[in-house]
Amino acid sequence: MKLSDLVEEMINEPSPIRQIMKMASRQNIINMGLDPDEVISYGGGWVGHHPPEELRHEYMKICSDSEEFYDAGKYSPTLGFDECREAIARMEKELFGVKLEIKNIIVGQSSTQLANDLFIALANPHDTILLFDPTYANYPGQIKMTLRNAKIARLTVLNQESWEYEPSDELSEKFKEIYDKEKPKIVLFPSPDNPSSQVFDDEFVKTIADVCHEKKSFMIIDYAYKTQCFISQPSYFSWSPADYPFMVALHSNSKWGRGLGRRLGWVDADEKIIEALERVQQCSILCPDTMHQFAFTSYVHRALEDGSLKKYLEGVRKAYKKAADITIESIKEYLDMPCLVPQGGLYTLMKVDEDADEFVKRVLKNTGVLFIPGKGFGESLKYAVRISYGPHVENVDIIREGFKRVANYLGVS
Ligand SMILES: Cc1ncc(COP(=O)(O)O)c(C=O)c1O
Repeated sequence: MKLSDLVEEMINEPSPIRQIMKMASRQNIINMGLDPDEVISYGGGWVGHHPPEELRHEYMKICSDSEEFYDAGKYSPTLGFDECREAIARMEKELFGVKLEIKNIIVGQSSTQLANDLFIALANPHDTILLFDPTYANYPGQIKMTLRNAKIARLTVLNQESWEYEPSDELSEKFKEIYDKEKPKIVLFPSPDNPSSQVFDDEFVKTIADVCHEKKSFMIIDYAYKTQCFISQPSYFSWSPADYPFMVALHSNSKWGRGLGRRLGWVDADEKIIEALERVQQCSILCPDTMHQFAFTSYVHRALEDGSLKKYLEGVRKAYKKAADITIESIKEYLDMPCLVPQGGLYTLMKVDEDADEFVKRVLKNTGVLFIPGKGFGESLKYAVRISYGPHVENVDIIREGFKRVANYLGVS
């Protein structure tokens, strides 16, 4: 059987993260002579907190009324329902101070799908896309899938020696240099970041925005973890498309209310970009999910009115901050390896000073503890692992236990 050249090529370059998750599958763990119930995983790139009860009630209301359930089975407009786009505009305004009109918003199936559609809408296969190193591991595959041989340029943001992000004045200079050399059509980065949980500061993001504005490139900020920011909110979190027409904000319902399997995402941007995305989305998914939009719309209006959304998000933020603190304290106490202090999100990066693929395999086989090798996020993490506390947020004791086990095996405790 002959598949497409593109897919044949991509099957031969599987994601290193998927490979390690396969290695940690139940059967493989048993084959290694370990008990799968004793495995402690820092691998999951997902959240473990509960969604708001009030959101669940909105789903119950839809499901308990046969006419409402019938109505939730209809197609949505390609851009999403106006009511849902209004709810998003209101939420962005009340939570972050972003000024949006519904013409600035498109709802999609998820931010993964919207990122793919953005690549198609904004760039050509001969263009260059600028990513950071490290960055979210799915971007390179998504770029290849949508733009074939588009060039990916990388701006290294992590200093290997100090194991800290470069100061923003240095990052800004490096960005200008690489921009002049590569002339990217799109600059894409998450903030708070996956895998580093760093939040890029105003000076650096303003530099990127100004250069992109002047040279007519697009700056896409991936806000998958926007509500899980532990430091004071940078001012760009509230920028509007009216001020920055070359900025695109990519959003997801997955992380804030644990909607990972109830998938919905949205983009806010200049009206022209939204119109372009509408055309692409007609071909990619036709329209976003109706049931999730209905539940989300009623929930957001109600929860903004009674203040419960802000309270819920505050609780969630505190819980992840606590899980992050315990993770960093445990690494310091048991392993004493360099690691980044999270400023938001679900992760830290730990420098292991040996080939991380080998380190992860060795540690898994001998302790049943799973880390993610860094290479999939960029060359800068060849000797580092990503550690996720996200899935353990409601059971933080397990976080310490895993590091204690690894320290016993490595003989460093
Ligand atoms: C930075 C980043 N963007 C996007 C996604 C995927 O978001 P969605 O669930 O909306 O597709 C993830 C998931 O881990 C992520 O870390």
